Amino acid sequence: MSVLPIEDKSAPHAAARPESAELTATLIHTRQQRAPRRLFAPGPDAAQIHAYFQAAAAAPDHGQILPWRFVVVPTESRAALGEIFAQALKERDPGASDRELAEARDKAHRGPFVALAVIRNEADDHPEIPLPERLVSLGCAIQNMLLSAHADGFGSGLVSGQAMHTAGMRRLFALHANEQAVCFIAIGTADRGKPIRPRPSPASFVSELRSETRHA
Ligand SMILES: Cc1cc2nc3c(=O)[nH]c(=O)nc-3n(C[C@H](O)[C@H](O)[C@H](O)COP(=O)(O)O)c2cc1C
Repeated sequence: MSVLPIEDKSAPHAAARPESAELTATLIHTRQQRAPRRLFAPGPDAAQIHAYFQAAAAAPDHGQILPWRFVVVPTESRAALGEIFAQALKERDPGASDRELAEARDKAHRGPFVALAVIRNEADDHPEIPLPERLVSLGCAIQNMLLSAHADGFGSGLVSGQAMHTAGMRRLFALHANEQAVCFIAIGTADRGKPIRPRPSPASFVSELRSETRHA
C-alpha cells in the first residue's frame, strides 16, 4: 500500500486544523523571492527584527551546536560592503567600467534590512555534526525568518553571488577560518506583486523505498 500522500493524523495538533494549518499553508505557499532592488522602506522595526531572529533560533539544530550566525548590515556599513562588491567585480573583470563598478556598489544599498548568513564547518568542537546537517539547520533558520517577515507583510529575498567567497568579504565580516558566508537576507516593503512561480510537483522529488529495490 502506498503511503503517499503523507498524512500524519496522529499529530497532537491535528485538531487545530483548519485555522492554524490554513494560515501556515498560506504563509508557506505565498512566500516568494523578491529581488532586494524591489524592497523599500519601511523595513521591519527593531522589535520585528528581534522576533525574526527568535524565529531563527527555533530551527532544528542537531547537537544544539548553533552552527550559524547572522551579521546585520546597517545603513552606515553599506558603503563598505559596496566597496567589497566593486572590488570583487574588478577581480573578476579588470576592465569593468566605472558605470559597472557603480552598479556593483549600489547593490549594497538595496533593501532596508540586510543580514549575512554565516555557516561554521566541522573544524570546531563538534566534528560529529557534518556540514550538510549544519546547512539544513541554517536553511531552516532562514526560512523561519522569511516566513515571519512574510507574516508581517514584508517581502524578502536571498542573494549570494560571486563576491560571497572573496577575501575582501571574509575580512569585512571578520569570518573565522572555519566559517563561510552563505547568502544575504533582505527584507522590506515590496513595491509590487509578482506571480508565484509554479512549484515542483511532489511527484518530481518524492519516491517510496521499495523492499525489492536494491543498489549495487
Ligand atoms: C542560498 C540561496 C542563495 C540565493 N541567491 C540568490 C541570488 O543570488 N539571486 C537570486 O535572484 N536569487 C537567489 N536565491 C533565491 C532563489 O533564486 C529563489 O528562491 C528561487 O528562484 C525560487 O523562487 P521562490 O523563492 O520565489 O520560490 C537564493 C536562494 C538560496 C536558497
